[in-house]
Amino acid sequence: MFSRIVRPTLNTARKFSTSQQNNYRVTVCGAAGGIGQPLSLLLKLNPLVTELNCYDIAPFTPGVACDLSHIETASKVKGFAGQESLKDALSNAEVVVIPAGVPRKPGMTRDDLFGSNANVVKTIFECATEACPDAIFCIITNPVNSCVPIACEVMKKANKLNPRRIFGVSTLDIVRANTFVGEMCGVNPKEMNVPVIGGHSGITIVPLFSRATPKVSIPKDKLDALTKRVQEAGTEVVKAKVGHGSATLSMAYAGARFANSIMRGLKGESNVIECCYVQSDVTEAAYFSNPVLLGKAGLEKNLGIGEINAYEKDLVSKALPELKKEIAKGVDWVKSQ
Ligand code: NAI
Repeated sequence: MFSRIVRPTLNTARKFSTSQQNNYRVTVCGAAGGIGQPLSLLLKLNPLVTELNCYDIAPFTPGVACDLSHIETASKVKGFAGQESLKDALSNAEVVVIPAGVPRKPGMTRDDLFGSNANVVKTIFECATEACPDAIFCIITNPVNSCVPIACEVMKKANKLNPRRIFGVSTLDIVRANTFVGEMCGVNPKEMNVPVIGGHSGITIVPLFSRATPKVSIPKDKLDALTKRVQEAGTEVVKAKVGHGSATLSMAYAGARFANSIMRGLKGESNVIECCYVQSDVTEAAYFSNPVLLGKAGLEKNLGIGEINAYEKDLVSKALPELKKEIAKGVDWVKSQ
């Protein structure tokens, strides 16, 4: 089934062009942060972006935008600092990418960020219900497993929910799985495509090595360690950065790859498929990540889990209770507000 898939890549260099095209207005919320800055840089280089609005509560955000605006690509960059400018930053946006919020420190789980980041996501979506309800939203802020339900509940309260246009970005898990298995099996990671399903935290991250393309054979005694490495890769970076944040550069790459796929879908390109975390009836969890076909509607078709082996079924069954707990936490929190 996956042999026909056109692997999404982020090859801005090859398509690099300074000519103006009628493409997309993109807003980055959290644009001054560790992810936000390199992500905005990659979006500035993407010829599918016409306007790039950089929003953050940090007062130096207009400086980030000024810096980016000197790059010789045709898109226009504007900076917006402070919550009072959020509505202007979001107004008329077609794609909104959200890496706003606090990252992990050593010893923290993604769920430990809930207290700080739930409000960040709520505030942005409350404003979006008025400023750009029809945009496509790509949520990077952790805990993704709870933040996507929060976003959907806020939109639902305002009668503006379109679940085909709200995505949790789990692309970094796929990028990591591709890299680790490619290195292990001597395949160029660029050629690898490993679907990763479930959610985006610890055991909810379920890499499907049985469905990797090209086909790879992973020795049984190495499979557990490889699976665990993908599940704990974020923590590997948190530890290595010794208190100075979590993955930023690889996440900026992953976020830019996902936004690029969203825009290719919007443009009508066929066969654009990404694993991402969306409202779902594929499993008993109300939100789940698996391959979806992207298109003009955003999520054009949920492709489901597909065939998986006994080892992977076991991982899914372990993931579901945790995932359901984190989803309920987000939903209940919005209801309690
Ligand atoms: P950071 O602290 O370097 O940057 C976050 C930025 O958000 C800061 O510039 C801050 O001023 C801004 N911010 C905070 N509250 C805001 C608000 N209410 N409105 C607008 N901007 C606001 O953090 P970093 O490393 O960029 O991480 C951002 C988020 O991304 C974290 O929650 C982190 O856990 C998450 N993340 C997600 C990944 C994924 O795979 N989905 C991977 C890595 C990180």
